[in-house]
This record gives sequence, structure tokens and C-alpha cells, in this order.
Amino acid sequence: MKLQVTARRTLTPEIEEFILTPIDGQPLPPAEPGSHISITTPSGAHRYYSLVYSGDSLGAYTVAIKKEPNSRGGSKSMHEQATVSTVLDVETSENEFPLGPKHDALLIGGGIGITPIYSMAQQLKAEGRKFRVVYLARSYEKAAYADELQKLCGDAITIHYSAGDGADVFDFWDLLMTPTQEHIYCCGPTSLMEEVKGGTGHWPDGRVHFEEFMPVEIIRDSDTEFTIELAKSGETITVPADHTILEALRANGHDFSSSCETGTCGTCKCKYTEGEVDHRDLALMDDEKSDTIMLCVSRAKGDHLVLDI
Ligand code: FES
Repeated sequence: MKLQVTARRTLTPEIEEFILTPIDGQPLPPAEPGSHISITTPSGAHRYYSLVYSGDSLGAYTVAIKKEPNSRGGSKSMHEQATVSTVLDVETSENEFPLGPKHDALLIGGGIGITPIYSMAQQLKAEGRKFRVVYLARSYEKAAYADELQKLCGDAITIHYSAGDGADVFDFWDLLMTPTQEHIYCCGPTSLMEEVKGGTGHWPDGRVHFEEFMPVEIIRDSDTEFTIELAKSGETITVPADHTILEALRANGHDFSSSCETGTCGTCKCKYTEGEVDHRDLALMDDEKSDTIMLCVSRAKGDHLVLDI
């Protein structure tokens, strides 16, 4: 669907909020807390962003996007090219980080990972459920929605500022040492999720939930153009420096199944028969890498790859 940027505002020096409104005035599909949308950025890259607000009859979707330091096609394009009035292609998809219906909740968000957590906190508050929030950020100036969360949660939120030097890290052990009846929902940088994973190994199965999808930057500054050859038809396609193989395939009329588009789910797995691959996924086993590539994130090390499709 086509959504227009109808407003944007600066939340922190690195994070911009975008309000996206349907150009045809049609109602938007309902959005649950924790859900995300896929945006085709002005540069043509596909990126996933969590929704800040949920609801059955939203007039607009709201996303908060952090400009990643090495971004070329994703967050950089949104920050620099998605101005008010820009029209974007947006898709909804299944909510992979749903909030369960009845239990108490401990919500843990770090950095830009606070967006689905904020959405969940609003829902829990609206339903009158018991919840706590832990929000980790480097400083007040870098903490998106800190004031809104403080107002929403009152005493139920702990905001910890680490100053980013590693000297003042939040100690989760007091919080996680004794399993409670709560479900934990965690979204943030890999280091935070690993820490919470490590601290909750003794919690009952199914009680701890992670937002595995993060809006990672797939394309790096050092990336260069290369070509792929489709073995079955002999067709050759150029993969530009700021596009993934998956995007280049789609731009040339080849649909290919995908889901996470961050190299974690395994959906876009494909065999290759020639060339060397720069593997950037988290899905393949080492022994698969000699002949298999994840098209959403990995690239050629040289200038040519032959795919077995
Ligand atoms: S779409 Fe999930 S690994 Fe590529």
C-alpha cells in the first residue's frame, strides 16, 4: 500500500519519527503491539520497522528510525530523503513479537528497541494489567520517548543511562534471579538480548520473548557492485552496491520468498554453484556455506556469483 509521510519530528539527534498516512484515505490494517511494517525506502531498500502505536483503526502508522552509522540505503535514505509528502510502499506482515493476552509483563527495551516495548506498555496500561519496564539508553538526550514512557508508566519504569562507556552497566541479576509469574518481552541490541537470554535460562519455557528482528543495516559502506547469473536461464543481473541480491532479483521481476530479511529466519536460502560468498547471515550452519547463500543479506566476495535458480 502507498503511505505518505505526513509529519516527521526529531526525537533524538539520531532518531526521527515518521507519521505515515494512506494516500487513498482507506483504513489501515489493524496493528497489534509488537508488530512491524516493511518500508521500501526512497533508495529502493526494504527495511522493517516496529510500530510505535497499535490499534484496530489507526489513521496512520508511526515509526521511529535510528540513523545507523554505516547506513547507505535504509535508515540513511529515510532520514535524508523521506520528507513530508514523500510516498512510500509499505507492507504489513505477521506479528512475530506478540503480547500475550493475560499475564503480567516485564518489558525490557534498549536503544531504538524501545519502540515495540513502548507500544506494549501502552496496551498493558490500557487493559489495566500489571507490568514493569526497564529502558536502557546511553543518555536522556539519546532516549526516544523517555518522557512519554515516564508519564505512562510512573513508578513502573526504570530508565538506566549508561553513558555508553561500559562503566555503568545495568545489573539484571536482581531482576531475573528469581522467576516470577511475569512474561518477559525484550527488544534491543544483540548484547542486551544475549544478556537477558543468559540471565533467564532458568525461567520456565515460553515465558521469555525476544524481538529477534532488528532493523539491521545490511548494506555496508565498503560494499561494491557485482553480478549474479541465474544458472537455469543464463540471465545475468547486476546487484548495485546499495542493494541486496534479493532486492536486485525483485527489481528484475523474480519473486523470491523471504520473511525476516535480516539473515536470521532461513527463508531466502539458495544454492550457488560458482563464486565466493561473503556470508552475513545467522541462519546457515558452517557446513552449508560452501554451496548455500542467504539472499537477503549475503553478497559476493568477488564480482560474480552463479545461483542455482
Ligand atoms: S529472509 Fe530470513 S534469512 Fe533471508
